[in-house]
Amino acid sequence: MSANRKLPDGYSQVDLTILQIDTVVDFDIYTWPPQAALPVLYRSKDLPFLEENRNRLTETQSGEVLILEDQSPRLTAYIERNLDRIVADPGIASKDKARVLYQTSLHLAKDILESPGAPEMLKRSEGVVRSTIGFILQGKDSFHWLLSLTSYDYYTYTHSVNVCTMGLALADQIGIRSQGELMDFGVGAIFHDVGKTKVSPGILRKRGPLTEAEWAEMKKHPEMGLALINPQSPFSNDSKAVILEHHERLDGTGYPAGKKDSEIHRFAKVAAIVDVFDALTSKRAYKDAIGSYPALKEMKEAVGTHFDDYYFRKFVILLGK
Ligand SMILES: [Fe+2]
Ligand SMILES: [Fe+2]
Repeated sequence: MSANRKLPDGYSQVDLTILQIDTVVDFDIYTWPPQAALPVLYRSKDLPFLEENRNRLTETQSGEVLILEDQSPRLTAYIERNLDRIVADPGIASKDKARVLYQTSLHLAKDILESPGAPEMLKRSEGVVRSTIGFILQGKDSFHWLLSLTSYDYYTYTHSVNVCTMGLALADQIGIRSQGELMDFGVGAIFHDVGKTKVSPGILRKRGPLTEAEWAEMKKHPEMGLALINPQSPFSNDSKAVILEHHERLDGTGYPAGKKDSEIHRFAKVAAIVDVFDALTSKRAYKDAIGSYPALKEMKEAVGTHFDDYYFRKFVILLGK
């Protein structure tokens, strides 16, 4: 595809490596030959995408094809369905995998916040979390690629993804190796703030300090989160602990239950560290983002009272790697 032609309205570009061999692609694929005024339909939707298709397109289209913008939700769903394969594909660079994974996670987090109780959300989260674990375990570059993509503008959905991604890397760093445990942690992390959808937006976006009544409402979000997911799907107790206990502090001054060190689930202690780190390093309407180093310095003051010492040290090592 010629680099100096402006993409016609209504089309978007897709990297060919995303299209996995022998999958059914449920959107139309267009090419845009140099001599053509407009893109040309290459392959109708719902046909399997074969190796010969990819080879031919790679030769003639320099690695990119077009799809209709109004079919892009199908591309998003296709990527989510095939994320495991994309992440495992040796033909895709880590940097590109990280981008696809992060975008897919953001999309999922938005959907979760829109309908946290929808039955398919647990299954979809498990898929994305499994791919994130697979990617992080590919090596230290993976996490840094993900970290480099982290949005510094704070929204609950970006925050949910950042807590999930950084939390999984920290969980791995502290030696949680069981796939089941990592899955439970990751699912809990991506859902950890769903209860904020029940907190009034005025409180969430307030620039100044919260009044006592507003704080009381804010502090309900872990329990409200649990209530939102509880009736529908079989979340594990480990996942639920991340949602319920991520604001507890070792010295018992946290919420909602004021639990102390040994009473707090270790997954919630991991989540607490990345949760605060992401909040400090993100930009809000009422505050600028601060860098990683000042954030860690500030957090260090609360080690032993808020944060677990060992997990915190592992987090510092993780970021410094
Ligand atoms: Fe929270
Ligand atoms: Fe949070």
